[in-house]
Amino acid sequence: MIVLSNGHRMEYVAASGSLGYDGKGWPQEKLLARCGRNFLDLSLFTKILKTITFLPNEGHGYTQIDFVKGGMVNAVGLKNPGFEWWLDNVGYKLPEEKESQRHLVLSLYSQKPTRLRWFSEMLVDFKRRLVGVELNFSCPSAPGFSDWKADMILKSYEAMKSYDHNLPVFCKLSAGQRKLVPEICRQAKGLIDVFDINSVPWHMVFPRQQSPFAHLGGGGVSGKIAQEVNWNFLRYLSNLTDIPVIGPSIWDYEDIGRVRSYGAKAISFGSVFTCYPWRPTQFVRKDMKEK
Ligand SMILES: Cc1cc2nc3c(=O)[nH]c(=O)nc-3n(C[C@H](O)[C@H](O)[C@H](O)COP(=O)(O)O)c2cc1C
Repeated sequence: MIVLSNGHRMEYVAASGSLGYDGKGWPQEKLLARCGRNFLDLSLFTKILKTITFLPNEGHGYTQIDFVKGGMVNAVGLKNPGFEWWLDNVGYKLPEEKESQRHLVLSLYSQKPTRLRWFSEMLVDFKRRLVGVELNFSCPSAPGFSDWKADMILKSYEAMKSYDHNLPVFCKLSAGQRKLVPEICRQAKGLIDVFDINSVPWHMVFPRQQSPFAHLGGGGVSGKIAQEVNWNFLRYLSNLTDIPVIGPSIWDYEDIGRVRSYGAKAISFGSVFTCYPWRPTQFVRKDMKEK
């Protein structure tokens, strides 16, 4: 369990991309939710929304997703309708609520600290509608993925803390950014409140196989097939820092215990929501009973 500085208690998390821009799910999850809470109970999760950029971003498109045995590869490239769309269609419709009723984390991407400072100012309006904000500089199919340096990332977090929005800040990293981690962890106190973990660059999981998205940089691999790399990264990160880390790549019920033993302080469900949308609810219910 992670208790955030605003009091939000977070044990089970829906990863960015799994439940859309509003946390209510993509059409298939909305259909399943209508079948009843035994299949999909969204109230069990802190929901990290799909990443938004300042302007609408074409990326590579929502169709750039493929299924591999035990997981997925995606090269969506942060396609999204932009922050203005999000404000009009989601953000300003969210009620102002007390902490125990709130459950959404906004996920943002920008390479420019000036834009992040602007986002930070905008977020003052959302301190009673969201429980946190995530900066996602780790999407393997986003432009400039391999150009990020630790100091650029740290400057972005400083920018995000420019205004008094009081929202805890999540730092999403990928196993492909391991070399940046020691420096980020050294300077993270006061800037970063939680770490979470992204998909894995294709070549780290399949070094000898060509990706179906080779023309888009290979894409990011997630799900069971990403566990070995992502859990190694989880162990590495949680040994380096006292800042809580959310454990990724849950596929089977037993994985919850495994990621806890590797240092995870909360549990994240990503691709499993897409491949087996009923599993996260079943696993969480069982875990709550057994704890
Ligand atoms: C289709 C798809 C879209 C995703 N979109 C985002 C995104 O917009 N922002 C983000 O931070 N992560 C995104 N992710 C990454 C997931 O949030 C998660 O970090 C990753 O899939 C690893 O976790 P998993 O193995 O449990 O799926 C996406 C993943 C998939 C499969």
